[in-house]
Amino acid sequence: MTSTPMPDFPAGFRWGVSTSAYQIEGAATADGRGPSIWDTFAHSPGRIVDGSTGDEACDHYHRYAEDVALLAGLGVSGYRFSIAWPRIQPTGAGPANPAGLDFYDRLVDTLLAHGVDPVATLFHWDLPQALEDAGGWLNRDTAARFAEYADLVAARLGDRVRLWITLNEPFIHMSLGHGMGTHAPGRALLFDAFPVAHHQLLGHGLAVAALRARSTSPVAIANNYSPVRQAGDTDADRAAAAAYDALHNRLFTDPLLGRGYPDGFELSVVRPGDLDAIAAPIDVLGVNYYNPTAVRAAEPDSPLPFELVPLDGYPRTAFDWPVVPDGLRELLVDLKQRYGDALPPIQVTESGCAYDDVPDADGRVPDPERIAYLDGHVRAVHAAIAAGVEVTGYFVWSLLDNWEWAEGFTKRFGLVHVDYATQRRTPKASYAWYRDAVIRAGADPGPAR
Ligand code: FCB
Repeated sequence: MTSTPMPDFPAGFRWGVSTSAYQIEGAATADGRGPSIWDTFAHSPGRIVDGSTGDEACDHYHRYAEDVALLAGLGVSGYRFSIAWPRIQPTGAGPANPAGLDFYDRLVDTLLAHGVDPVATLFHWDLPQALEDAGGWLNRDTAARFAEYADLVAARLGDRVRLWITLNEPFIHMSLGHGMGTHAPGRALLFDAFPVAHHQLLGHGLAVAALRARSTSPVAIANNYSPVRQAGDTDADRAAAAAYDALHNRLFTDPLLGRGYPDGFELSVVRPGDLDAIAAPIDVLGVNYYNPTAVRAAEPDSPLPFELVPLDGYPRTAFDWPVVPDGLRELLVDLKQRYGDALPPIQVTESGCAYDDVPDADGRVPDPERIAYLDGHVRAVHAAIAAGVEVTGYFVWSLLDNWEWAEGFTKRFGLVHVDYATQRRTPKASYAWYRDAVIRAGADPGPAR
């Protein structure tokens, strides 16, 4: 960790934190919420490492006021949360469930009352189970359903949400949820999962139109990116690295920014007009970054055209992910080089790390590795801005320790520790560090308070 003061960020830069509905809300059957694919998946034996579910998670549904107080104490100007589609449409279709909308209405008003911009993600992977039963994102109709849902949410919250994010990480939802089957809905289709890419992107494009019709707030999508490090030096390794880069970093961005799908991705489900709908202008590109990926040529009998290998030589998080802050600078600069003037301003919508944080005898939670991690990544964003990339926000994943998908409760990403037995929240050392060394240090001095 460095004690060098943070460099200045541009005026109006949005400092925030992120969460998602299924990971924190709990209250899985409250007020008419329907089941999602993650309820089904988590309740299927053997899917989650510790056998847990999101039934209760952090009980944020009932404790949101306490959690907003934590946000206010942090001094963030933005809070990225997601809206649970099955709270709004319990079966994925039809009129809105008023009680579901009421919850987010209360959350949004409480945020605004504390000076925190609500940043709402419409889809963070919790598809209503009824839509999955009809084919899920393999079914083109789900794109139209998503736009209807976006319309219902924007009709209620469109005057107060300050930034919309349509989808969270459609690449991860496609690859882990439908390609490998390690996330919900647990389908292991390998490359037969590609319709999920197109239908999510189409749903995004249709939702952008629906949001614009109801709300003047800017619209974004949050993509996951990973700079590719070529392992090995053969032509086959080079081809493997390029193939993985196209899959992870370009498949969901080239069409959004008007270039159509990368070569090699001739998706048979594309219909006339779809690419125009997908390329509807967005105001912000959300970038989620955790680590680079090392790639080499696959063995001849592999079903994949590449093999992912460990990236050695870096410290690692409790998730065993390498800590490479400069990868974030590299990624942001590469996006600018790749897309030039077609690239909208970027907000880093997720950046964070898991460590095995435990309260000490005094009840404090020291997490020096997280402070070092975030310090490095915030500086990497600054370096990208200095190199000419327009970055207008940074959100730490996550406000709270929470239910980390297939990892259950075993990975703690929060600035705030959660004791899941008591739901007690304890800000970690990184919470005070983010507040003091980043947010307050970067704020306009203004009159003394
Ligand atoms: C991202 C997800 C987020 C969280 C972090 C650790 O891929 O968007 O929900 O799981 O990883």
